[in-house]
Amino acid sequence: MCGIVGFVGAEDAAPILLDSLERLEYRGYDSAGIAVVDRESGLQVEKCKGYVSELRGRLTQRAPMTGCAGIGHTRWATHGEPNDINSHPHVSQNGRVAIVHNGIIENYIHIKEFLLSRGVTFASDTDTEVVAQLLEYFFNDCDDIMDAVYQVLDRLEGAYALGILCADTPDRIIAARKDAPLLIGYGEGCSFIASDVTAVIAHTRTVSYMEDGEVAVLTRGRVEVFDEYRRPVEKTSHYVDWDVSAAEKGGYAHFMLKEIHEQPQAVRSTISPYLRDGKIRFDGLSVSTDYINGLRDIHIIACGSSYHVGMIGKYNLERLVRVPVSVSLASEFQYSDPLVGRDSLIIAISQSGETLDTITAVKTVRSRGAHVLSIVNVVGSSLARISDDVLYTRAGPEIAVATTKAYSTQLVMLNMLGLYFAEQRGSVAPDEYAAIVTALEALPAQMQQVLDDTDEYQYLASQYFNRERVFYIGRNLDYALGLEGSLKLKEISYIHSESYAAGELKHGTISLIEDGTLVIALATYAPLFEKALANVREVQARGADVLALTTADRAGALLENVHNLMTVPDTHLILQPNLGVIPLQLLAYYIALQRGCDIDKPRNLAKSVTVE
Ligand code: M6R
Repeated sequence: MCGIVGFVGAEDAAPILLDSLERLEYRGYDSAGIAVVDRESGLQVEKCKGYVSELRGRLTQRAPMTGCAGIGHTRWATHGEPNDINSHPHVSQNGRVAIVHNGIIENYIHIKEFLLSRGVTFASDTDTEVVAQLLEYFFNDCDDIMDAVYQVLDRLEGAYALGILCADTPDRIIAARKDAPLLIGYGEGCSFIASDVTAVIAHTRTVSYMEDGEVAVLTRGRVEVFDEYRRPVEKTSHYVDWDVSAAEKGGYAHFMLKEIHEQPQAVRSTISPYLRDGKIRFDGLSVSTDYINGLRDIHIIACGSSYHVGMIGKYNLERLVRVPVSVSLASEFQYSDPLVGRDSLIIAISQSGETLDTITAVKTVRSRGAHVLSIVNVVGSSLARISDDVLYTRAGPEIAVATTKAYSTQLVMLNMLGLYFAEQRGSVAPDEYAAIVTALEALPAQMQQVLDDTDEYQYLASQYFNRERVFYIGRNLDYALGLEGSLKLKEISYIHSESYAAGELKHGTISLIEDGTLVIALATYAPLFEKALANVREVQARGADVLALTTADRAGALLENVHNLMTVPDTHLILQPNLGVIPLQLLAYYIALQRGCDIDKPRNLAKSVTVE
């Protein structure tokens, strides 16, 4: 989704804004722009379709932009095609204010008609421009920028994070938020706004998160925040311990490849705070043993890859905790009138903690009294703030649009939680518990083992990169794993792929198999290995070209049957997907590389999906 940055300090804003925008490039965007203000030159704006590098090019062809306050934006088009005019910042017709916006103004047509009837002229096709024009309209009338801002916010319907620059007050930027993420960064003699923390960690690690209805006024050495009634608000600040270098490529060709290789460390960091002396402990959780024992059901809600983690969680939690577990796409769940109550536990999973579908679903269940426990990667994110309990994965900043290390850390977190609940309820045998803990301890090293030799995946990619459709098949945990493998492939390589429960093939899907169809058969789930083998034979009999994934000790049995084979070490069966996902990530990565795709920023996709 769109990225917002803003800076006010003692030095020229333009270079800082450009640098921060580059750090937001990973979110996915189609145009970029900045606006800077100073008393002599007034508002200066440059914006264009394309990447920040193109914007930099434009800036070299014009007089330098001077001013110590500015706002910047990367746009992910929703209203109006990606072009120079529709790019942000948008400036009001008399040039008094400039606006950057993330979100959607739902009543923009209504506001536009009102302003057109009052003689205001519009330059763009966007919903955002109405905010700039309406602000100037009220500002002309009252001559107080804060009064005008509040009058505008009163009339907006929809979601917004706004950065506002005003020619009359060149010492400040103003920010406002409703249902779209926006944070404030506190630097040495300077202040920032940003849609996410990666934009500012090179300058400051102290941030606070704006809440719905809040308006912030940032000057060089001061930040004031007000609520929707214009009462001052005392903000809590958070310290972000992410390393700046973690948000840089560090010699890798792509962030995605770097993040794939960071998985052992990310998983180790996620496990270690909770695993001590052979025991999983979640001391900070507010749920009591009585509550855990009285649990009626668990509902997992999430989107995309986080939903796929939930699919694996359903199998594993039911196995360990022995309560019914449902897993739902957040975008569906929120409109399904869900049957949840006080004895339901909701587990919401999200890397960013800013996915609007997940946040909306959580708000729905909270209003029905359910307890919400979130598994989130970004400290202080919106989802974390509205949850009763939060467990933070420690993946560090994930930049590539296609998630890898966040997925792996979510998986171990969910498994640890299941094991903890199971112990409290007495639903796991002590030796089984001990076996899983031992397997968890060994997992990072086993993940590293898979990553130590990537040549094989490059070779396999060279064999398969020109396929136009691929099927993943598997049973139980392998089926859930296939969903993630398939999503990885399609989002970065644009190859059409689907994942099917192997037992369902004969109920319809198998009619799609013809000579040479590539089927990736997942056979890592030991209890159903023989059935997986039968499914391999079934598709081969219809001409499929089978690439299989299994564990080292079963390789022999599969090798006789398939064209190519990928193997991973053996672990406890509930953790097997943590190893199985790595070959699928690498295969997708190298296939996309061979196809010349923009791996870190796949077309049409955004890293953090903050609109419905
Ligand atoms: O930040 P979240 O985990 O809530 O994001 C959910 C999905 O948008 C995300 O997993 C998406 O599917 C990824 N691009 C998949 O690689």
